[in-house]
Amino acid sequence: MARKKIALIGGGQIGGILALIGTQKEIGDIVVLDIPQVEGMVKGKALDIMELRPHDGYDANITGTSNYADIKDSDVVVITAGVPRKPGMTRDDLLAVNLKIITDVANNVKKYAPNAFVIVVSNPLDAIVYAFYKVSGFPKNRVIGMAGALDSGRFRAFIAMETGLSTQDVSCVVLGGHGPTMVPLPRLATVGGVPIDKLLSQDKIDAIVKRTREAGTEIVKLLGNGSAFFSPAASIMEMVESYLKDKKRVIPSAALCEGEYDVNGYFIGVPCVIGCNGIEQILEIDLNSDEKAALKNTVDHVKKVVEETEL
Ligand code: APR
Repeated sequence: MARKKIALIGGGQIGGILALIGTQKEIGDIVVLDIPQVEGMVKGKALDIMELRPHDGYDANITGTSNYADIKDSDVVVITAGVPRKPGMTRDDLLAVNLKIITDVANNVKKYAPNAFVIVVSNPLDAIVYAFYKVSGFPKNRVIGMAGALDSGRFRAFIAMETGLSTQDVSCVVLGGHGPTMVPLPRLATVGGVPIDKLLSQDKIDAIVKRTREAGTEIVKLLGNGSAFFSPAASIMEMVESYLKDKKRVIPSAALCEGEYDVNGYFIGVPCVIGCNGIEQILEIDLNSDEKAALKNTVDHVKKVVEETEL
Protein backbone atom coordinates (compact mmCIF):
# COMPACT_ATOMS: atom_id res chain seq x y z
CA MET A 1 0.00 0.00 0.00
CA ALA A 2 1.37 3.38 -0.97
CA ARG A 3 2.15 5.77 1.82
CA LYS A 4 -0.41 8.38 2.77
CA LYS A 5 0.33 11.97 1.83
CA ILE A 6 0.00 14.76 4.35
CA ALA A 7 0.21 18.43 3.36
CA LEU A 8 1.05 21.06 5.94
CA ILE A 9 0.01 24.51 4.70
CA GLY A 10 2.15 26.83 6.80
CA GLY A 11 5.59 25.69 7.85
CA GLY A 12 6.17 28.05 10.77
CA GLN A 13 6.33 27.11 14.44
CA ILE A 14 3.41 24.67 14.54
CA GLY A 15 4.01 23.39 10.99
CA GLY A 16 7.67 22.65 11.76
CA ILE A 17 6.97 20.70 14.95
CA LEU A 18 4.11 18.91 13.23
CA ALA A 19 6.48 17.84 10.45
CA LEU A 20 8.87 16.43 13.03
CA ILE A 21 6.21 14.56 15.02
CA GLY A 22 4.58 13.29 11.83
CA THR A 23 7.91 11.91 10.65
CA GLN A 24 8.54 10.25 14.00
CA LYS A 25 5.09 8.68 13.94
CA GLU A 26 5.55 7.65 10.28
CA ILE A 27 2.11 8.88 9.30
CA GLY A 28 3.15 9.14 5.62
CA ASP A 29 5.02 11.39 3.21
CA ILE A 30 4.84 15.00 4.31
CA VAL A 31 4.82 18.13 2.15
CA VAL A 32 5.30 21.45 3.92
CA LEU A 33 4.07 24.44 1.92
CA ASP A 34 4.65 28.08 2.73
CA ILE A 35 4.77 31.38 0.84
CA PRO A 36 7.53 31.89 -1.78
CA GLN A 37 9.28 34.47 0.45
CA VAL A 38 10.14 31.77 2.98
CA GLU A 39 10.42 28.76 0.69
CA GLY A 40 14.04 28.29 1.76
CA MET A 41 12.94 28.06 5.39
CA VAL A 42 10.51 25.17 4.73
CA LYS A 43 12.93 23.46 2.37
CA GLY A 44 15.58 23.75 5.08
CA LYS A 45 13.33 22.34 7.80
CA ALA A 46 12.29 19.47 5.52
CA LEU A 47 15.88 18.64 4.61
CA ASP A 48 16.94 18.79 8.25
CA ILE A 49 14.21 16.28 9.12
CA MET A 50 15.17 14.09 6.11
CA GLU A 51 18.65 13.96 7.62
CA LEU A 52 17.30 13.14 11.10
CA ARG A 53 15.56 10.00 9.83
CA PRO A 54 18.56 7.63 9.90
CA HIS A 55 19.00 8.12 13.66
CA ASP A 56 15.79 6.26 14.37
CA GLY A 57 15.23 4.61 11.00
CA TYR A 58 12.24 6.56 9.69
CA ASP A 59 11.62 6.13 5.96
CA ALA A 60 8.83 8.46 4.90
CA ASN A 61 9.81 11.50 2.85
CA ILE A 62 9.42 15.12 3.71
CA THR A 63 9.71 18.04 1.31
CA GLY A 64 9.33 21.81 1.47
CA THR A 65 7.71 23.86 -1.28
CA SER A 66 5.81 27.01 -2.18
CA ASN A 67 4.12 25.35 -5.16
CA TYR A 68 0.59 24.09 -4.57
CA ALA A 69 0.94 21.48 -7.33
CA ASP A 70 3.16 19.58 -4.86
CA ILE A 71 0.24 18.94 -2.48
CA LYS A 72 -1.68 17.19 -5.25
CA ASP A 73 -3.97 14.41 -3.99
CA SER A 74 -2.99 14.74 -0.34
CA ASP A 75 -5.03 12.59 2.03
CA VAL A 76 -4.81 15.08 4.87
CA VAL A 77 -4.27 18.84 4.80
CA VAL A 78 -3.40 20.76 7.97
CA ILE A 79 -3.65 24.54 7.74
CA THR A 80 -1.61 26.69 10.10
CA ALA A 81 -1.00 29.39 7.50
CA GLY A 82 -1.46 32.82 8.95
CA VAL A 83 -0.09 35.04 11.63
CA PRO A 84 -0.03 34.17 15.33
CA ARG A 85 -0.78 36.48 18.25
CA LYS A 86 1.59 38.93 19.85
CA PRO A 87 1.28 39.87 23.53
CA GLY A 88 -1.79 42.04 24.08
CA MET A 89 -3.64 40.65 21.04
CA THR A 90 -6.72 38.46 21.17
CA ARG A 91 -7.26 35.68 18.64
CA ASP A 92 -10.05 37.79 17.13
CA ASP A 93 -7.53 40.53 16.28
CA LEU A 94 -6.10 38.17 13.65
CA LEU A 95 -9.33 37.87 11.67
CA ALA A 96 -8.75 40.29 8.80
CA VAL A 97 -5.29 39.07 7.85
CA ASN A 98 -5.94 35.37 8.38
CA LEU A 99 -9.25 35.54 6.50
CA LYS A 100 -7.45 36.72 3.36
CA ILE A 101 -4.92 33.94 3.74
CA ILE A 102 -7.51 31.19 4.29
CA THR A 103 -9.40 32.26 1.18
CA ASP A 104 -6.31 31.76 -0.95
CA VAL A 105 -5.46 28.49 0.80
CA ALA A 106 -9.03 27.14 0.45
CA ASN A 107 -9.09 27.78 -3.29
CA ASN A 108 -5.80 25.95 -3.75
CA VAL A 109 -6.73 23.01 -1.52
CA LYS A 110 -9.98 22.66 -3.44
CA LYS A 111 -8.04 22.59 -6.70
CA TYR A 112 -5.20 20.26 -5.72
CA ALA A 113 -6.45 18.08 -2.87
CA PRO A 114 -10.23 17.89 -3.31
CA ASN A 115 -10.60 14.65 -1.37
CA ALA A 116 -8.52 15.56 1.67
CA PHE A 117 -9.57 15.60 5.29
CA VAL A 118 -8.82 19.19 6.28
CA ILE A 119 -7.81 20.32 9.74
CA VAL A 120 -7.84 24.10 10.20
CA VAL A 121 -5.72 25.58 12.98
CA SER A 122 -5.31 29.29 12.11
CA ASN A 123 -7.01 31.76 14.45
CA PRO A 124 -9.59 33.00 15.19
CA LEU A 125 -10.26 29.31 14.76
CA ASP A 126 -14.05 29.13 14.76
CA ALA A 127 -14.34 31.83 12.08
CA ILE A 128 -11.38 30.68 9.97
CA VAL A 129 -12.62 27.07 9.80
CA TYR A 130 -16.06 28.40 8.84
CA ALA A 131 -14.43 30.49 6.09
CA PHE A 132 -12.54 27.46 4.78
CA TYR A 133 -15.78 25.48 4.67
CA LYS A 134 -17.63 28.25 2.80
CA VAL A 135 -14.89 29.02 0.28
CA SER A 136 -13.90 25.42 -0.45
CA GLY A 137 -17.39 23.93 -0.60
CA PHE A 138 -16.01 20.75 1.02
CA PRO A 139 -18.51 18.46 2.73
CA LYS A 140 -18.89 19.10 6.46
CA ASN A 141 -17.44 15.73 7.50
CA ARG A 142 -14.08 16.64 5.92
CA VAL A 143 -13.60 20.08 7.51
CA ILE A 144 -12.66 20.31 11.17
CA GLY A 145 -11.09 22.90 13.43
CA MET A 146 -8.38 22.05 15.94
CA ALA A 147 -9.11 23.73 19.25
CA GLY A 148 -10.83 21.37 21.67
CA ALA A 149 -8.03 18.81 21.46
CA LEU A 150 -5.66 21.52 22.67
CA ASP A 151 -8.01 23.10 25.21
CA SER A 152 -8.96 19.77 26.75
CA GLY A 153 -5.29 18.73 26.70
CA ARG A 154 -4.45 21.84 28.70
CA PHE A 155 -7.33 21.11 31.08
CA ARG A 156 -5.97 17.58 31.50
CA ALA A 157 -2.44 18.84 32.06
CA PHE A 158 -3.56 21.23 34.81
CA ILE A 159 -5.62 18.52 36.55
CA ALA A 160 -2.62 16.21 36.45
CA MET A 161 -0.34 18.98 37.75
CA GLU A 162 -2.69 19.83 40.65
CA THR A 163 -3.49 16.25 41.68
CA GLY A 164 0.00 14.87 41.05
CA LEU A 165 -1.63 11.98 39.14
CA SER A 166 -0.85 10.69 35.67
CA THR A 167 -1.92 12.72 32.64
CA GLN A 168 -2.77 9.39 31.07
CA ASP A 169 -5.65 8.80 33.44
CA VAL A 170 -7.24 12.24 33.20
CA SER A 171 -10.30 12.50 31.02
CA CYS A 172 -12.24 15.69 30.33
CA VAL A 173 -14.01 17.74 27.72
CA VAL A 174 -14.09 21.39 26.69
CA LEU A 175 -16.93 22.74 24.55
CA GLY A 176 -17.49 25.95 22.63
CA GLY A 177 -15.32 28.51 20.90
CA HIS A 178 -11.52 28.65 21.03
CA GLY A 179 -11.04 31.64 23.31
CA PRO A 180 -11.79 32.90 26.80
CA THR A 181 -15.50 32.01 26.44
CA MET A 182 -14.73 28.30 26.00
CA VAL A 183 -16.61 25.92 28.30
CA PRO A 184 -14.49 23.42 30.23
CA LEU A 185 -16.79 20.92 31.96
CA PRO A 186 -15.28 20.09 35.39
CA ARG A 187 -18.47 18.16 36.27
CA LEU A 188 -17.43 15.48 33.76
CA ALA A 189 -13.68 15.51 34.44
CA THR A 190 -12.27 12.37 36.03
CA VAL A 191 -8.96 10.80 36.95
CA GLY A 192 -9.13 7.04 36.51
CA GLY A 193 -12.91 7.28 36.70
CA VAL A 194 -12.87 9.32 39.94
CA PRO A 195 -14.64 12.70 39.60
CA ILE A 196 -12.20 15.56 40.22
CA ASP A 197 -14.31 17.06 43.02
CA LYS A 198 -13.25 14.02 45.07
CA LEU A 199 -9.61 14.95 44.50
CA LEU A 200 -9.50 18.75 44.46
CA SER A 201 -11.17 21.59 46.38
CA GLN A 202 -13.74 23.73 44.56
CA ASP A 203 -11.30 26.67 44.68
CA LYS A 204 -8.63 24.61 42.94
CA ILE A 205 -11.11 23.40 40.32
CA ASP A 206 -12.27 26.97 39.65
CA ALA A 207 -8.65 28.07 39.27
CA ILE A 208 -7.96 25.23 36.82
CA VAL A 209 -11.00 26.17 34.73
CA LYS A 210 -9.88 29.80 34.63
CA ARG A 211 -6.32 28.83 33.72
CA THR A 212 -7.59 26.55 30.93
CA ARG A 213 -9.58 29.41 29.41
CA GLU A 214 -6.52 31.67 29.47
CA ALA A 215 -3.89 29.03 28.75
CA GLY A 216 -3.03 30.24 25.25
CA THR A 217 -2.66 33.81 26.47
CA GLU A 218 -0.45 32.68 29.36
CA ILE A 219 1.97 31.20 26.82
CA VAL A 220 1.77 34.18 24.44
CA LYS A 221 2.83 36.43 27.35
CA LEU A 222 5.72 34.16 28.32
CA LEU A 223 7.04 33.68 24.78
CA GLY A 224 6.81 37.38 24.02
CA ASN A 225 6.67 36.63 20.32
CA GLY A 226 4.19 34.19 18.81
CA SER A 227 1.93 31.61 20.38
CA ALA A 228 2.12 28.01 21.61
CA PHE A 229 3.35 25.42 19.15
CA PHE A 230 4.40 22.15 20.84
CA SER A 231 1.03 21.31 22.36
CA PRO A 232 -0.96 22.50 19.31
CA ALA A 233 1.16 20.24 17.09
CA ALA A 234 0.59 17.24 19.37
CA SER A 235 -3.14 18.00 19.43
CA ILE A 236 -3.30 18.12 15.64
CA MET A 237 -1.43 14.84 15.42
CA GLU A 238 -4.04 13.09 17.59
CA MET A 239 -6.67 14.12 15.06
CA VAL A 240 -4.57 13.13 12.04
CA GLU A 241 -3.90 9.69 13.49
CA SER A 242 -7.51 9.10 14.44
CA TYR A 243 -8.45 9.80 10.80
CA LEU A 244 -5.66 7.85 9.10
CA LYS A 245 -5.95 4.85 11.42
CA ASP A 246 -9.75 4.98 11.64
CA LYS A 247 -9.42 5.00 15.41
CA LYS A 248 -12.80 6.65 16.01
CA ARG A 249 -11.43 8.63 18.90
CA VAL A 250 -13.73 11.13 20.58
CA ILE A 251 -11.91 14.45 20.35
CA PRO A 252 -13.48 17.82 21.07
CA SER A 253 -13.12 19.76 17.82
CA ALA A 254 -14.79 22.58 15.93
CA ALA A 255 -17.41 20.96 13.71
CA LEU A 256 -20.30 22.34 11.69
CA CYS A 257 -23.33 21.94 13.94
CA GLU A 258 -26.69 21.58 12.28
CA GLY A 259 -29.01 21.22 15.25
CA GLU A 260 -26.56 19.64 17.68
CA TYR A 261 -26.38 21.58 20.95
CA ASP A 262 -29.09 23.86 19.46
CA VAL A 263 -26.49 25.40 17.15
CA ASN A 264 -27.28 25.83 13.49
CA GLY A 265 -24.77 26.64 10.77
CA TYR A 266 -21.72 27.43 12.90
CA PHE A 267 -18.50 25.60 13.75
CA ILE A 268 -18.44 25.06 17.50
CA GLY A 269 -16.22 22.91 19.69
CA VAL A 270 -18.12 19.67 20.35
CA PRO A 271 -17.09 16.04 20.97
CA CYS A 272 -16.42 14.56 17.52
CA VAL A 273 -15.88 10.95 16.52
CA ILE A 274 -12.97 11.05 14.07
CA GLY A 275 -12.52 8.04 11.80
CA CYS A 276 -11.79 7.20 8.16
CA ASN A 277 -14.88 9.16 7.09
CA GLY A 278 -13.70 12.29 8.85
CA ILE A 279 -16.16 13.63 11.40
CA GLU A 280 -18.35 10.55 11.70
CA GLN A 281 -20.52 11.73 14.54
CA ILE A 282 -21.04 14.59 16.96
CA LEU A 283 -21.78 13.27 20.44
CA GLU A 284 -24.21 15.21 22.59
CA ILE A 285 -23.92 15.73 26.34
CA ASP A 286 -26.85 16.59 28.59
CA LEU A 287 -25.83 19.95 30.01
CA ASN A 288 -27.12 21.51 33.22
CA SER A 289 -28.54 25.03 33.16
CA ASP A 290 -25.24 26.78 34.02
CA GLU A 291 -23.40 24.84 31.33
CA LYS A 292 -26.14 25.63 28.81
CA ALA A 293 -25.87 29.33 29.62
CA ALA A 294 -22.07 29.20 29.24
CA LEU A 295 -22.42 27.42 25.90
CA LYS A 296 -24.93 30.01 24.69
CA ASN A 297 -22.49 32.75 25.65
CA THR A 298 -19.61 31.20 23.68
CA VAL A 299 -21.85 30.47 20.67
CA ASP A 300 -23.03 34.10 20.65
CA HIS A 301 -19.41 35.20 20.64
CA VAL A 302 -18.50 32.86 17.77
CA LYS A 303 -21.49 34.09 15.76
CA LYS A 304 -20.32 37.67 16.14
CA VAL A 305 -16.83 36.88 14.81
CA VAL A 306 -18.20 34.71 12.00
CA GLU A 307 -20.55 37.51 10.92
CA GLU A 308 -17.49 39.72 10.43
CA THR A 309 -16.25 37.32 7.73
CA GLU A 310 -19.29 38.31 5.62
CA LEU A 311 -19.34 34.80 4.15
N1 APR B 1 0.09 30.42 2.48
C1 APR B 1 0.89 29.56 3.13
N2 APR B 1 1.52 29.88 4.28
C2 APR B 1 1.35 31.11 4.76
C3 APR B 1 0.54 32.07 4.13
C4 APR B 1 -0.11 31.67 2.92
N3 APR B 1 -0.89 32.51 2.23
N4 APR B 1 0.59 33.20 4.84
C5 APR B 1 1.39 32.98 5.90
N5 APR B 1 1.86 31.71 5.85
C6 APR B 1 2.81 31.06 6.75
C7 APR B 1 3.87 32.00 7.32
O1 APR B 1 4.87 32.33 6.36
C8 APR B 1 4.40 31.18 8.49
O2 APR B 1 5.54 30.41 8.14
O3 APR B 1 2.18 30.52 7.89
C9 APR B 1 3.22 30.28 8.85
C10 APR B 1 2.67 30.50 10.23
O4 APR B 1 3.65 30.16 11.13
P1 APR B 1 3.96 31.00 12.46
O5 APR B 1 3.94 32.45 12.15
O6 APR B 1 5.18 30.43 13.08
O7 APR B 1 2.65 30.70 13.37
P2 APR B 1 2.32 29.39 14.21
O8 APR B 1 2.76 29.59 15.60
O9 APR B 1 2.72 28.18 13.47
O10 APR B 1 0.72 29.52 14.24
C11 APR B 1 -0.04 29.43 13.06
O11 APR B 1 -2.03 28.76 14.21
O12 APR B 1 -2.43 28.73 16.48
C12 APR B 1 -2.63 29.41 15.29
O13 APR B 1 -2.86 31.71 15.99
C13 APR B 1 -2.03 30.78 15.36
O14 APR B 1 -3.00 31.60 13.35
C14 APR B 1 -1.81 31.09 13.91
C15 APR B 1 -1.51 29.72 13.31
